[in-house]
Amino acid sequence: MEDFGLFETMFSARALRRFRSDAVPNELISKILEAGIQAPSGGNAQSWLFVVIKDEEQRRKVAAVYAKASKVIRYFYSKRERPSHMSEIQYERLMNSGVYLHEHMSEAPILLLACLKLSSSSNPADVPPDCERVKPEALIVQAERTRCGSIYPAVQNIILACRALGLGTVITTNHLLYADEIRNVLRLPGNVETYALMPIGFPRDNFGPVRRRPHRGGTARRLGQALAWLVSGRANIDWL
Ligand SMILES: Cc1cc2nc3c(=O)[nH]c(=O)nc-3n(C[C@H](O)[C@H](O)[C@H](O)COP(=O)(O)O)c2cc1C
Repeated sequence: MEDFGLFETMFSARALRRFRSDAVPNELISKILEAGIQAPSGGNAQSWLFVVIKDEEQRRKVAAVYAKASKVIRYFYSKRERPSHMSEIQYERLMNSGVYLHEHMSEAPILLLACLKLSSSSNPADVPPDCERVKPEALIVQAERTRCGSIYPAVQNIILACRALGLGTVITTNHLLYADEIRNVLRLPGNVETYALMPIGFPRDNFGPVRRRPHRGGTARRLGQALAWLVSGRANIDWL
């Protein structure tokens, strides 16, 4: 196994959606999960739950839900414009790769479902009397974003661990349109919510490099902007 540095791993961990049928050894799965659970989570709650689906029948059922949801998402995408930073060819490649996975999710030897066990949410009435009132909507936003922030860092660690181990993967969320069907297939308890479905396997395509819009200007300019913002009190959000 090659030994990658962190940056090389990060820069080459592109989304891979076509997999060989070779089984993924259990030691590699353990290593991936170990990497996932090193992530931070709100209040260090670590309320994550990772469901590793190897069984072919279950993979087929989960993949069928993914395919059904992806049909809807595909329609949404057809109404959207291509992002201006992607060429037509790049966008077409992304769409084709996505559509391939819509129909072939079950071919990945592992489907990993990243979930959270939810606890009861805060009640607006619980805000202490010496604090300013909190809008109920703000409590909902705060709770949901904190939940996302408590699982997606683990998902990214898993993406990087897969890359380092020579495994391909991609974070997917289309299944969320029919999340209850996934719950039924896997008999997940009512307090467990799914956040990402990741096919994992030895890839049929090559790793990276990932292609991103470059950030405009270097650190010095950005620091200058931060300073200008502090001095003038004006938000400058056009940093990237
Ligand atoms: C929140 C999120 C949801 C995503 N959902 C899906 C999905 O449902 N299906 C899919 O094929 N890719 C999905 N992706 C993968 C993106 O298409 C991919 O990360 C992006 O195109 C960059 O790919 P690259 O790293 O190969 O450049 C998702 C990515 C993110 C961050």
